Amino acid sequence: MISAHSSVKVAKHPLIQNALTQLRDYRTPSSEFRRLSLQLSRLLIYEAMVGLSAKEIGVETPMGPGKGVVLTDYVILAPVLRAGLVLSEAAQDLFPGARIYHVGLRRDEETLKAISYYSKLPEKLPAESSVFILDPMLATGGSAVAAISLFSNLKVQSIHLVSFLSAPEGIKHVQENFPNVQITTGAIDDHLNEHGYIVPGLGDAGDRIFGT
Ligand code: PRP
Ligand code: URA
Repeated sequence: MISAHSSVKVAKHPLIQNALTQLRDYRTPSSEFRRLSLQLSRLLIYEAMVGLSAKEIGVETPMGPGKGVVLTDYVILAPVLRAGLVLSEAAQDLFPGARIYHVGLRRDEETLKAISYYSKLPEKLPAESSVFILDPMLATGGSAVAAISLFSNLKVQSIHLVSFLSAPEGIKHVQENFPNVQITTGAIDDHLNEHGYIVPGLGDAGDRIFGT
């Protein structure tokens, strides 16, 4: 059962669902998979960043003074290597000023536990930081929980998790450990198989994005 505490947003926009369906299709070749992944990433980042803070400013247009807004959050992107790089590429397009902290995690194929192989975080981050953990697949949730743990003691303003697809098991795992994390995902699928893959899912995201 998915708890009502943590906010889970399933992004139902038809462009998102259309891209996701093409990604699910086993016939979609790697080049197309990568293009669609970037497209889906942009749309999901847009949905996930809807709550960013902004303040009013004045702006001089060619016609004279006007009013506008400027974003005030300190945005941090935390792509989980390797598949999260595609979400990070899209997010940088939308938010060129974002700071990026890569998180190297790989799932042990036998135990399904996340093993950390890279992270280089500062001891402190600005209090107004909004951290976006980026990983296309939320399966058992082991990788997401490990990535969130890296930021959870740094007293940031908010932590978000953005995924293409989630398994109910992964959402539950994140909610049990970090009820305040806001999850934005394209779909919540049926279940995990005995190898920890999301069913129906889309297969191995990293392998399909990078053609390996
Ligand atoms: C995949 C995926 C997530 C993780 C999800 O990465 O990109 O990081 O599995 O599974 P979990 O929720 O059960 O932890 P993988 O370890 O295959 O590494 P890769 O991105 O380098 O292929
Ligand atoms: N990682 C993937 O790439 N796909 C899954 O279905 C689960 C974990």
